[in-house]
Amino acid sequence: MSSISTRLALMFGLSVALIVSVCAVVLQGSLKDSLQQQMHNELELRHSLLDPLLMSRESRGSWLKVVDKLSAMAPDDGPDALHWVISDDPFYSYGGPAPFGVDWNRVPDGFSILPPQKGCCPLNVLITTIPPAGSRPALRFVVALDSTPYMKTLGDFTHNLTAISIAGTLLVALLGYGIARLGLWPVRRLSSQAHGLAPGDTGQRLDTARLPPEIRDLAVSFNGVLARQEVAWRQLESFNADVAHELRTPLTNLMGQTQMGLAVGQDVQEFKELLQSNMEELERMTSIVNDMLFLSHAQVGRMAMDLSEISLREEAQKTTEYVEPLFVEKDLTITLQGDARALADRRLFHRALANLLENAACHADVRSEVTIDMESRDGKAYLSVSNVGQPIDPQHLPRLFERFFRAESSRSQSDRHHGLGLSIVKAIAVIHQGDVFVRSEDGVNTFGFWILAQSST
Ligand SMILES: Nc1ncnc2c1ncn2[C@@H]1O[C@H](COP(=O)(O)OP(=O)(O)O)[C@@H](O)[C@H]1O
Ligand SMILES: [Mg+2]
Repeated sequence: MSSISTRLALMFGLSVALIVSVCAVVLQGSLKDSLQQQMHNELELRHSLLDPLLMSRESRGSWLKVVDKLSAMAPDDGPDALHWVISDDPFYSYGGPAPFGVDWNRVPDGFSILPPQKGCCPLNVLITTIPPAGSRPALRFVVALDSTPYMKTLGDFTHNLTAISIAGTLLVALLGYGIARLGLWPVRRLSSQAHGLAPGDTGQRLDTARLPPEIRDLAVSFNGVLARQEVAWRQLESFNADVAHELRTPLTNLMGQTQMGLAVGQDVQEFKELLQSNMEELERMTSIVNDMLFLSHAQVGRMAMDLSEISLREEAQKTTEYVEPLFVEKDLTITLQGDARALADRRLFHRALANLLENAACHADVRSEVTIDMESRDGKAYLSVSNVGQPIDPQHLPRLFERFFRAESSRSQSDRHHGLGLSIVKAIAVIHQGDVFVRSEDGVNTFGFWILAQSST
């Protein structure tokens, strides 16, 4: 693909070539017309001078003066204006044989052009008939003009015009190339800036201050991409740190217990207990790793979905049965309210709701009521789980759905909770083209999500 400068230069050149060609054709045509008119005028002038002379001669005696006059007008060096007098009486004939073997009787009176022959230019001819007078018969008087000098003028003009047109076109193409390169200078500057961006330094941006408006938008969008990359990069960094942190606790526990088991002599029962405890740590690690895999699959859109039209209430009923034991522990009651229909993956829906219910069971006041509300509104199917509990600090609300985020300052409960439950709820809502929400009002904490609703018809 050729450069923009070359393409612009080519386009400038072609445009100029087109315009100049049209102008040249028009100019050449008008010059040709005006030369033709000039020859016509010249012929008419000669006739106006000579016709009265021929008319006034009425006898053979006076005719000889005409012959002298015409002979005197004949050019010395080659034919310029040529004269013929055609008569049935050879005495009155003048001028010798007709040029190009033309038969004068076939050429009508008035203006005509004898076509060129053998390298000669065309002859322009004006013929008049001189009526008989006295003893003189009727005559036809032919004045011919050789168009060679006129054609030469036209040829020279065409030649010069062609040379000027070609030179002009080339000059414009060359200037166009230079101008385009000059105009594209900011683009080259931008690209060298982009080349200079060092990998790893996420705070770098392109300098958009001195850019022309045409490419400023591009640079601003590019900076937007860099800014989003920076956010993603920082998230990835903190995610890595969080993963390491989460895995370190169970690993430390595992190592400590194993070292203790190896150091001190223990009986079979104690070893069994040790292995049991190790098993719990391993299960915890497996659950973290599984949750992370789930989130990463959901994020890159590689989650297999088995969509079907479901009643949120029917499915919620099944989920509550499954998490019932958690609620019994704290003597909580679950109430279901409303219903909505949606196109969703049953398995994922159960997982999201189970996470919300587990959290509610964990954070609800003892012997309180947990409510699952479902409703269809504005084409969306909403589901929320509300429980009575400690108000959540408003500054934590926007971060609750982030990975590994836990509102509790100490991670005392981290044995069972690693802070991925709500981010999984969010991921499930997002892959159903929905989103999540949270409220903490009047001692009631509400967590929920919406997905696209199905009309119940
Ligand atoms: N029903 C709730 N009431 C109060 N706080 C909650 C509730 N559900 C979640 N949270 C807060 O959100 C945090 C993140 O929840 P989640 O992602 O499920 O992680 P985890 O349950 O493993 O701590 C919890 O640590 C808790 O601080
Ligand atoms: Mg949870």
